[in-house]
Amino acid sequence: MSEILVGNAVEVLKEIPADSVDMCVTSPPYYGLRDYGEKGQYGIEHTPQEYIDHLTSVFHEVKRVLKPDGTLWLNIGDSYAGSGKGPMSKAMAGNGKNNKLYQKDSRIYEVPKVWDGIKPKDLIGIPWLLAFALRADGWYLRSDIIWHKLNCLPESTKDRPTKCHEYIFLLSKSPKYYYDYKAIQEPLKEVSKARYKRGRSDNSKYYGKGNELLQGINRPHDDYLRFDQQYRRKRDVWEVSTNSYKMDEHFAMYPEKLIEPCILAGSRIGGTVLDPFFGSGTTGAAAKRLGREYIGIDINARYCEKAWQRIAGIAPQMGGNSAAGAGKRDVCQ
Ligand SMILES: C[S@@+](CC[C@H](N)C(=O)[O-])C[C@H]1O[C@@H](n2cnc3c(N)ncnc32)[C@H](O)[C@@H]1O
Repeated sequence: MSEILVGNAVEVLKEIPADSVDMCVTSPPYYGLRDYGEKGQYGIEHTPQEYIDHLTSVFHEVKRVLKPDGTLWLNIGDSYAGSGKGPMSKAMAGNGKNNKLYQKDSRIYEVPKVWDGIKPKDLIGIPWLLAFALRADGWYLRSDIIWHKLNCLPESTKDRPTKCHEYIFLLSKSPKYYYDYKAIQEPLKEVSKARYKRGRSDNSKYYGKGNELLQGINRPHDDYLRFDQQYRRKRDVWEVSTNSYKMDEHFAMYPEKLIEPCILAGSRIGGTVLDPFFGSGTTGAAAKRLGREYIGIDINARYCEKAWQRIAGIAPQMGGNSAAGAGKRDVCQ
């Protein structure tokens, strides 16, 4: 049964039974970028290390509630240390297009802009700090997927390339885990099929008259072609445009297209997908569309309500009845 729970992720997760959830896909708040206006929210800690420690304790609980073969797909962006004088500075707060995000009383301005060992203009390296902290906490760090944002925003900076990517880390609770590679494999291009068939030497003996790959013959190279010759394994650079779905007050939503492969590879139809930073409910929307159940947690009750309304209007496109209902809503403060 699907549900949305209101509260601080680390506390709410403690109420979920161990080994009960198939997978988790989520995007925590960025560091030092947004004030969601809630007591206990993450992202406004005084140091990057405090932020990493908070997220590590949340994902420690996520690990506990995941089934032994479960995975975590973690979308995380980076932040820069700054001088405190730019367009995000308090002096500029309330001006122009930043109006809604950066009011004068935003707690974002209380977050220092430089720290020991991190100078103004330095990229902090948040994604890898978190990845290494999670690995030290027992997670298996399995893949760093690059989300290449096809329509990323222009930046005014003239002394570095425009940033157009974020990370999705694939982490697992155990060394062996559920990963349905076939559910997300990609069609091979014709030119690649021809190249594989040609091979380095004469490969024609592996093919029948109808051009089909003959079974029962050991092919020395590329043995996966015996099974999947029309497809290739999904690669670790994913080109996905940023969101087109608009929600009045929520910021930093990820697109459904980005997390669909995570859900397809990480769970079976009818399985349960967890998101401890639910926001506008994109994870629930994608899970329901793909015939999975979901558990969403967010500290902001208004977001939970909006997410609930959004997901209610979605019709599953996969699976039977299990995730077809609108689910149940629990509020735990
Ligand atoms: C980047 S947004 C998630 C966006 C979401 N992936 C979507 O597509 O809408 C991060 C969310 O984390 C929530 N949040 C911040 N601190 C939290 C905490 N301590 N516990 C639970 N949720 C928290 C914020 O309210 C915000 O909705």
